[in-house]
Amino acid sequence: MKSKALLLVNVGQLLTLRLQSDKAVPRRAKDLRELGILEDAAVLCLGGKIVSVGKTKDALRDPWLRKNRKRVLEIDCKGQVVLPGFVDSHTHPAFINARLVDFERRTAGATYEQIAEAGGGIRSSVEPVRKAGKALLAEKVLDGLHEMAEQGTTTVEAKSGYGLTVDSEVKSLEAIREAASRRPGTVVATLLGAHVIPKEFQGRSQKYVESVCTEMVPQAARRKLAQFVDVFCDRGAFSLEETRKILEAAAQNGLSVRAHVGQLSETPLETLLALRPASLDHMDHVSNEDISRLARQDTVVTFVPGANYFLGLTQYPSAREFIDAGVPVGLATDYNPGSSPTASMPFVMSLACTHMKMSPAEAVAAATINGAWALRLQDRKGSIEPGKDADLAVFDVEDYREIPYWFASNRCAFTVLNGVLVASGGSGELG
Ligand code: NIG
Ligand code: FE
Repeated sequence: MKSKALLLVNVGQLLTLRLQSDKAVPRRAKDLRELGILEDAAVLCLGGKIVSVGKTKDALRDPWLRKNRKRVLEIDCKGQVVLPGFVDSHTHPAFINARLVDFERRTAGATYEQIAEAGGGIRSSVEPVRKAGKALLAEKVLDGLHEMAEQGTTTVEAKSGYGLTVDSEVKSLEAIREAASRRPGTVVATLLGAHVIPKEFQGRSQKYVESVCTEMVPQAARRKLAQFVDVFCDRGAFSLEETRKILEAAAQNGLSVRAHVGQLSETPLETLLALRPASLDHMDHVSNEDISRLARQDTVVTFVPGANYFLGLTQYPSAREFIDAGVPVGLATDYNPGSSPTASMPFVMSLACTHMKMSPAEAVAAATINGAWALRLQDRKGSIEPGKDADLAVFDVEDYREIPYWFASNRCAFTVLNGVLVASGGSGELG
């Protein structure tokens, strides 16, 4: 996966996501709409990094380029749109099967929670993961990562969470690491051992929480298998107190924290915010008081409207209230077999525009630079600036607003992941 010197020229709109002022904080309020668009632009990438960004005619006059033009792979973008590769900051790719029975039950009117109570849901994904070898699981993760890259995603957060034993959570994280090593993009691994209480611990949740805190978290940290620990903090999963214990264990072991919260019911956020999570995700049910609290912190609120869509909900998170209050918001796919089997950030952006009244510009910033903040990768990812990683998504459109507009169709022509060019449509690495 060697990266070559790469020059993109004649970019119709280059969405740099550069801010006029240098504010080292996630984007909020009106900053979310500042895309730093350059027209008729060029980007030069060397050694997996962006080295210069400017007008095509200036780039072609560059003395270094004039001397080295033959060594550079030059691509004429013919007016296409180029933006930072999407940062999908919330995915669950370590699973084996699609959950078609759940899907069909929902068409007959059952809810996500009713299906889980009747033996479906997350627990029904556990047995196949426990039985699977690491190689098969890694193949499954790789399939997901590949599909994401084809739709413009260059950085992926990948959670474990369908093993729910020490060994099978570790196996899932190893499979994520194995898959990540076989592709050019960036993968950030998260331990989600606290996804639900596994069957064998039913009625003894304390014991399971103890195992997460004293076995899973320390192993994941010691073996550097994860950067983050996540907990599904909600009705039917883990209580606030259990979540606090697990996230404190994470911090004690040097891992950063994030949580699923407010998907099915409201949880007061003060306790969680004191742990400085990088991101709180879903956030369908949040009090006004907590929205004000969030506006004062750098925790990103990551919406995953693919889950609302796929669960057939009519309600979506109230993105406008968060944005207007000054909360930094992100968007992610929540790619998983139960509530959001999509790898498409453009589709998620489309849902954010049509169902959450985010503007196309806000959706772009939420899917790029704020995704990077949600993974604490803002210094390397999420904008097109010299010194940052060469992660780009090239879309075959004339105007960036077409990305969320043409929903359920893939207009991504190719992606550049850490300087390596990957074509959309299965033709693999080009660079
Ligand atoms: O983010 N809410 C918890 N976890 C996932 C669903 C996982 C599943 O149903 O398999 C989510 O929606
Ligand atoms: Fe999730």
